[in-house]
Amino acid sequence: MDNNKTLIAYETKQGASEETARRIAEVLRAKFELEVDLVDLNTQKVQDFAQYRNVVVGGGVRMGRVYSKVTEFLKENDFAAKRVAFFASSAWGGTPGEYYDSAKKRFVENTLAKYPHIPVVSKEAFGGKIVYFKKRMVDNLDLSRAEAWAMELGKLFT
Ligand SMILES: Cc1cc2nc3c(=O)[nH]c(=O)nc-3n(C[C@H](O)[C@H](O)[C@H](O)COP(=O)(O)O)c2cc1C
Repeated sequence: MDNNKTLIAYETKQGASEETARRIAEVLRAKFELEVDLVDLNTQKVQDFAQYRNVVVGGGVRMGRVYSKVTEFLKENDFAAKRVAFFASSAWGGTPGEYYDSAKKRFVENTLAKYPHIPVVSKEAFGGKIVYFKKRMVDNLDLSRAEAWAMELGKLFT
């Protein structure tokens, strides 16, 4: 692999992970001049996974579990020799204090603990939203946190 391409693969149901993934992509492109491909795991397939040096994987949480396409993606791909970053979007993740700490431990660290061979360079828990009959019941997605994390990733990826 003689390039430094970045893949951001995500699964979303309520839209938070997609907004987070897009904002990360914008920062990596604009501030670090990285070539970034975004893949929605619900509707798209990753083309030639081997071409990527950096991989950001993220998705939402329901009933304490990260979405299944995300965990399948972690299970099925060979991440050796890649730089991997992981995020989970949830209601708890956007609530500072104990809830954020629990989201990071339960949704992020416990998920990754099942895949100890994956070389994770950075991991984070972000907020989410619940839209029900077009009403926003929860919205604690703060995209400035995604931007700040993307700045850290940019330094790790370049
Ligand atoms: C049925 C359902 C179950 C949920 N369960 C949890 C949960 O266990 N913990 C949590 O912090 N957030 C929970 N949430 C909030 C989601 O994590 C939030 O909608 C988030 O934005 C999902 O990511 P997405 O927008 O990318 O789909 C739940 C939301 C729904 C609709």
